[in-house]
Amino acid sequence: MRQLAPLSRHRRMTLGDLPAVMEIEKQAFSNPWSTEMVKKELSQDWSTVLLLEESTAQGWAVRAFAIFWTVADEIHVLNVATDETHRRRGFGRGIMDLVIAQGRAHAARIATLEVRRGNVAALGLYTSLGFRPVGMRPAYYADNREDAVVMVMDL
Ligand SMILES: CC(C)(COP(=O)(O)OP(=O)(O)OC[C@H]1O[C@@H](n2cnc3c(N)ncnc32)[C@H](O)[C@@H]1OP(=O)(O)O)[C@@H](O)C(=O)NCCC(=O)NCCS
Repeated sequence: MRQLAPLSRHRRMTLGDLPAVMEIEKQAFSNPWSTEMVKKELSQDWSTVLLLEESTAQGWAVRAFAIFWTVADEIHVLNVATDETHRRRGFGRGIMDLVIAQGRAHAARIATLEVRRGNVAALGLYTSLGFRPVGMRPAYYADNREDAVVMVMDL
């Protein structure tokens, strides 16, 4: 019997994925990371860049990515974004579920992140996953001096 192709898959980012990831990064943020910043994460032992891809008629397409660090028994999520034309389809939750699963697999105890106070979508995503606000960093973001909400999740 013929097997149906899976609709999505995940894998670690490689250098060849830079154009696709940078495209999503630029759509997603007012102050996007540079190509060099993303590239650097690929070379650091403590950093993981995960991609979630969807099967299309043209092949696999990157829909979301996440960058996180594993330091001692913590993971710190630095960057998460979904292709803007594919939001609200579960890719953000999907990539964060993978981050959390990898943290647990590495025996991490907690996951931490910072999010802009006004980022309703990300706050909704993280809260629904079980992250809780534990503090505020006033004027943390240099571009508009927006506060950061510090969030933590027990893994
Ligand atoms: C935040 C982001 C990654 C969410 O990605 P997504 O693929 O659209 O998320 P999902 O479809 O998996 O949604 C998961 C949950 O997040 C919440 N959510 C997502 N978008 C939302 C929105 N616009 N408003 C309110 N809640 C939202 C909901 O709880 C949603 O669950 P539901 O669809 O069952 O209601 C995406 O909006 C994005 O890339 N934003 C720009 C980059 C960014 O802000 N990254 C986070 C930096 S800290």
